[in-house]
Amino acid sequence: MRIGSVAVAHPITLAPMEEHTNYPFRLVCKQLGASLVCGERVDACDVAKRDRRAIKLLHTSPTERPAVGQISGNDPQVMADAAKVVAEQGFSIVDLNFECPIRRLIGRGEGGALMADPSAIARLVEAVVRAVDIPVTIKIRSGPDAEHETAVEIARLAEQAGAAMVDVHARSVAQSYVGGPDWSVVARVKQAVQIPVLGSGGVRDAADAVRFLKETGADGVAIGRGCLGNPWIFQQARALVTGGANVAPPSISEKARVVLQLVEGEFDFYGNHLAVKRLPRVACYFAKSLPNFAEFRDEVQGIKSVTEFKRLVREFFR
Ligand SMILES: Cc1cc2nc3c(=O)[nH]c(=O)nc-3n(C[C@H](O)[C@H](O)[C@H](O)COP(=O)(O)O)c2cc1C
Repeated sequence: MRIGSVAVAHPITLAPMEEHTNYPFRLVCKQLGASLVCGERVDACDVAKRDRRAIKLLHTSPTERPAVGQISGNDPQVMADAAKVVAEQGFSIVDLNFECPIRRLIGRGEGGALMADPSAIARLVEAVVRAVDIPVTIKIRSGPDAEHETAVEIARLAEQAGAAMVDVHARSVAQSYVGGPDWSVVARVKQAVQIPVLGSGGVRDAADAVRFLKETGADGVAIGRGCLGNPWIFQQARALVTGGANVAPPSISEKARVVLQLVEGEFDFYGNHLAVKRLPRVACYFAKSLPNFAEFRDEVQGIKSVTEFKRLVREFFR
């Protein structure tokens, strides 16, 4: 697939997830076979004024390319300014979030609130396309709620405004993350536009990814919660769609290797103070399949350093 000037090697990609798809996690997903990785949504206002936390969230490096930086907002000038910062940071693509269901954003008329206002999305896309040289893509849902599907109209308008790809999360904004996705909306968007279409929702294993691509006709699938604690899903799905040999599930030592790499990466990236707070949640995703998971979960809460953490992983992932 090509997204504007950017070549994407195969259809298995990482979906953006707040609090999860940070730089260390994206590197793991890339190494384990994701063709394209996307960072979490960052407020365009903060990015445009180069707030320190926002810039940290928009860290990238050539190792993870092609990579997508995502922003949200509803002011064309602010979005254009923020997109310039995303490009300066080294991202290959800037993605505009029109899907986030969190109340704070909806209340400000941003994120998913814009699914009810297709022409506002078109104006935002136009302003950003004018401002940057990298491809501009959009992330949408089926519509504001189950009764109002706006995805097809928005995809068409965004294409006319210069968007290089549409990524459809196959749920409505009102649905948030609850309940099954309706993949048929991705198929309808794919039929309606010439630009590549990516989709996500409910992909939990490699076979789901293949089914998603077959049923929707989409150019790519973005894996969300299905990769938390299981980034091997990328290489498994890639093998299935590219006709390679089946990839066996990871051994316990492979799990230990990856969880250590991820956690060391988080300590480097966030520093001790923040990494220690994040650690239990991150590690527990990987430890869920351990027979003594409950014990691991209790012990990981008290960890204060990367050395202690390594000891715990060696003890439990055996
Ligand atoms: C915890 C969490 C955080 C998310 N954060 C973002 C985000 O920052 N930007 C975005 O476009 N989508 C975000 N999403 C949506 C995902 O990109 C993806 O569309 C969705 O998770 C697909 O559904 P699935 O998890 O059932 O596969 C998030 C999803 C979850 C579960």
